Amino acid sequence: MTKPIPLLIDTDPGVDDALAILMAFNDPGHDVVGLSIAAGNVGLEHTVRNALKLCEVAGRDDVPVFAGCASPLVFVPREDAAHVHGRDGFGDVDYEPVARRAEAEHAALAILRLSHRYAGELLLVALGPLTNIALALKLDPTLPSRIKRFVVMGGAVTGHGNITQAAEFNVAFDPEAAHVVFEGFPVFDLADWEAVIAHGFHHQKAERWLQADSPRARFYDAISLQTRRWSADRRGELWHSADALAMAYALQPDGALELAKRPLQVETAGALTRGATVTDWNRQTGRPDKARILLRYDQARFEGLVEAALAAG
Ligand code: BDR
Ligand code: CA
Repeated sequence: MTKPIPLLIDTDPGVDDALAILMAFNDPGHDVVGLSIAAGNVGLEHTVRNALKLCEVAGRDDVPVFAGCASPLVFVPREDAAHVHGRDGFGDVDYEPVARRAEAEHAALAILRLSHRYAGELLLVALGPLTNIALALKLDPTLPSRIKRFVVMGGAVTGHGNITQAAEFNVAFDPEAAHVVFEGFPVFDLADWEAVIAHGFHHQKAERWLQADSPRARFYDAISLQTRRWSADRRGELWHSADALAMAYALQPDGALELAKRPLQVETAGALTRGATVTDWNRQTGRPDKARILLRYDQARFEGLVEAALAAG
């Protein structure tokens, strides 16, 4: 049997982060070696607690959780995503407190340490604002040389944003960090918001998956209820899980049916444009084609991964 790929997830849980992490836990081809936690969907005290809780529910208290930056590198944005994920980020279900604490090591230092420990093998997946990874890069710009593959959920590659008309939440929350990261990595895989919108699944189907007789499905049913209602009101019959799509692309890259490689830069200025991921579709800048952008993923494969992750355990 081949050795599982070490997987480090930088995340701001978040209802869709939780689904992505359950997918990773359920994949025998990957070994989750840590969760490094960012602020984003809600404040860091909640995102850390949610990560620990999810590990507990999934029976994965062996996975270390590292608390990272409590705020973006430079400016604190006006808006988080509590209106989507609940004030606590996990649907305000008032879950039983979790006993375990986060590790003492800062997330940015853990990213660097694990990049040495698994040099040349590590799959790094970013599901939140890129603050921790930017900080790690500033501490050690050689980080990318030790990462085998880097997958990011973020951006809106033709400017159809979700938090503003031009920008996607993870990038808009900390555009300076996204700039540092997208400049610092020679190449990365990107599942942007527009790919997410093209890969919704029917609420009725998801409700069926959530009926699975497993603690993971029961917990996920509860914490996702508020966001499913919000999404049904706002977007109709399809439910979109951004981080789950990015995780499908990370775990099973051969499920990608269409990719485009292009230069991509983050706009950090402008009341209307801050956080936009400006993609050089016509290759006018002469910059390197560093973003491998997911355009189409095998929908049946994606849904199969989600369903299996919920039923597992
Ligand atoms: C991204 O923003 C967050 O709200 C989600 O968790 C996801 O990572 C989608 O724009
Ligand atoms: Ca997220």
